[in-house]
Amino acid sequence: MTEAKKLFVKTYGCQMNVYDSERMAEALGAQGYEQVDTAEAADMILLNTCHIREKAAEKLYSDLGRLRPLREARPDLKIGVAGCVAQAEGEEIMRRMPIVDLVVGPQTYHRLPKMMEAVARGEKALDTDFPEEDKFAHLPKDRRAKRGPTAFLTVQEGCDKFCSFCVVPYTRGAEVSRPVERLLREARDLVERGVREITLLGQNVNAYHGPGPEGGEWGLARLVRALAGIEGLDRIRYTTSHPNDMEDDLIAAHGDCGKLMPYLHLPVQSGSDRILKAMNRKHTAEAYVRLIERIRAARPDLVLSGDFIVGFPGETEADFEATLALVREVGYGSAFTFKYSARPGTPAAERAPVDPAEADDRLQRLQALIAEQQRATQAGMVGRTVQVLFEKAGREPGQIAGKSEYLHAVHVDGPEALIGQVAAVEVVESRPNSLAGRLV
Ligand code: SAH
Ligand code: SF4
Ligand code: F3S
Repeated sequence: MTEAKKLFVKTYGCQMNVYDSERMAEALGAQGYEQVDTAEAADMILLNTCHIREKAAEKLYSDLGRLRPLREARPDLKIGVAGCVAQAEGEEIMRRMPIVDLVVGPQTYHRLPKMMEAVARGEKALDTDFPEEDKFAHLPKDRRAKRGPTAFLTVQEGCDKFCSFCVVPYTRGAEVSRPVERLLREARDLVERGVREITLLGQNVNAYHGPGPEGGEWGLARLVRALAGIEGLDRIRYTTSHPNDMEDDLIAAHGDCGKLMPYLHLPVQSGSDRILKAMNRKHTAEAYVRLIERIRAARPDLVLSGDFIVGFPGETEADFEATLALVREVGYGSAFTFKYSARPGTPAAERAPVDPAEADDRLQRLQALIAEQQRATQAGMVGRTVQVLFEKAGREPGQIAGKSEYLHAVHVDGPEALIGQVAAVEVVESRPNSLAGRLV
């Protein structure tokens, strides 16, 4: 018997890339590749890349630079680049980095096995099409390997919103929703393999409008309710959602679907209407705040998270203060804050930038406010009983760790037999990035 070929996958960027990496590893698994944890141990290295900000894209080139000596020492080593930088800069990667054998975009990775055959013959392979066929339907169906308690499930891909700063509509293409039946099948299969919590993924997951089993289209709320019917599946989450796609039924589901967790990532980007307009977000700050009120009316204990960009072209101190005011009014459990990064080909990249020192200063001020809210939200959990899905052994012996319904990391002293189960925990202490509790 020949020894299995070794695959090392490195994932950058969002959860959709995490999901894609798993599916690519499976596709290559069917070709005899097994995964390893280091580049040094691999026969094939696959870098699944992100293009969202300049720093993210640059990481690819610095990582490839670091791989060059390894590749030169072992000419049989194959190197592939996948994901959003592959989509945006495929030909340039091939030109700049001769050590790269293969470039595959996010919509064509079901063709990887074929591309690998070409690479094995010593050819270079590049595929960054947006094909008509559904890649998920063409991927190997054998997903028998045992799974941890949580999993991602991509239900929707692409984006038609064209926020003026964002590359996603160009790297991921137009919005496409996967058919309901296939998603239910994939979810049941995940549950059979040990998954207790599924996070539904999409660049705009609440724009989901997939073909239903008996014709017609289903929205995300209907899909969530159908998934909630799967026995053995305890928890459902979804990310990332857009404020303009929060339909009434989805808001209602937060109140009446017990398996839908009380945590929502709903980015607003800015609290200034002038900037929101320049960003092409198509809603006002006021509309966002009213929306949050409606969702909280359905689920009062909801913990909110968001994304913010500071230093967008034209942002004044007054615009930035409007963002701080919105954050104070809404109250976040956590949030991601980014300094605006001009991306080639996006409309905002044409505009005059904000002074970088000013942008840095705003980033720090916003981060300080959000850190304060995060601490307050965590501190508010102390003394409460939360439901924790245990995922792994804790850092110290005898400890186990998992996530509460509010997505806080929680650790307790407890038996490893609880891993993969949900148990009640009384929170006793709030630490910088986690909660400590005791089983009740
Ligand atoms: N589809 C999601 C977000 C996708 S990108 C949504 O619309 O909310 C994740 C986050 O990266 C965005 O919410 C935004 O805050 C940030 N981001 C995107 N493009 C950026 C850029 N050019 N500069 C800085 N941050 C950016
Ligand atoms: Fe990018 Fe806007 Fe689409 Fe989100 S909604 S992926 S920020 S274009
Ligand atoms: Fe990055 Fe592409 Fe995700 S640009 S954030 S990997 S969709």
